[in-house]
Amino acid sequence: MSLKENLEKLKSEGLKDIADSKEQHVLNDIRVKLLGKKGPITDTLRGMKDLPAEERPKIGSFANKIKEELAQAIADKQEEINKAIINEKLKKETIDVTLPSRKSNKIGTQHILNQIIDDIEELFIGLGYQVISGPEVEEDKYNFEKMNIPKNHPARDMQDTFYINDELLMRTHTSPQQARTMEKHDFSKGALKMISPGKVYRRDTDDATHSHQFNQIEGLVVDKNVTMADLKGTLEVLVRHVFGEERKIRFRPSYFPFTEPSVEVDITCFACGGSGCRICKFTGWIEVLGAGLVHPNVLKNSGIDPDIYSGFAFGVGPDRFAMLKYGVEDIRNFYSNDVRFIEQFKGEEA
Ligand code: PHE
Repeated sequence: MSLKENLEKLKSEGLKDIADSKEQHVLNDIRVKLLGKKGPITDTLRGMKDLPAEERPKIGSFANKIKEELAQAIADKQEEINKAIINEKLKKETIDVTLPSRKSNKIGTQHILNQIIDDIEELFIGLGYQVISGPEVEEDKYNFEKMNIPKNHPARDMQDTFYINDELLMRTHTSPQQARTMEKHDFSKGALKMISPGKVYRRDTDDATHSHQFNQIEGLVVDKNVTMADLKGTLEVLVRHVFGEERKIRFRPSYFPFTEPSVEVDITCFACGGSGCRICKFTGWIEVLGAGLVHPNVLKNSGIDPDIYSGFAFGVGPDRFAMLKYGVEDIRNFYSNDVRFIEQFKGEEA
């Protein structure tokens, strides 16, 4: 057989092997065998040295052509195998598009109570108030005694709580922040104006309107000549901001040990405008918070002379605000961590 015939034979055998191969590793072997340095083509070409000089380039280029053809056939086959692999995979991993989708990671929303607290903070910052936070584990002294509720006083019954020991308890209201800020305030630098939001605790059985833990925002202003008129004007700004500019406000006499006089604050019903409906129990008014002028004893207990200074204080319940504003019927919704409840308030952010 001539060299050329030999090469032709290698080519046709090679092409057949390539065509027959179905698996990756078989094709790999063929590639190495046919085109490798130790392959039959390289081997055959060694016989070129016996050819006449003018024949050599012809055979050389003929051999190269064969190599190229084989390489091309291998590449084509490779593509075929790749496609087969992918098709096989696709077949195995078919997706049932009729299945309900899994929930993707959703962007959360700020809790409605925090939205209300933030909003009220911003309002009061705009009015020149400081925002101050205080301890939830509080001393009896601040929670009760300095707030004009001595040990064994019956007024303590209104606010029972969880005790750490005889002198330490979970605060029942944010009012201890009144004493804490009054003690620290330097009146030579001007009036004390602060709000203090935070969690408070009561020994309550949880039901639709009671939670053993809820939120309050304390407000306090102490200066010379602070009057009920200042309190009323300030609270009007607050309730109009939260419940609408048309709201009217009324004070009803009430009792708190730490304010004198004390008031419950009502607003005209935001649902009916004051004509009477289910929400305001057909009275036209809704009770929203408690307030009053700081009791002289409370001022004294914090080292402030009640003959020179006076003040007003109020206690807002963001939970109650949210329930009224958004018609939430059960306070426990705020604390049960049900995303379906919480995400309803997306977009309420001010
Ligand atoms: N601390 C009172 C309560 O929790 C609310 C309040 C605060 C009333 C400030 C008057 C003044 O019920």
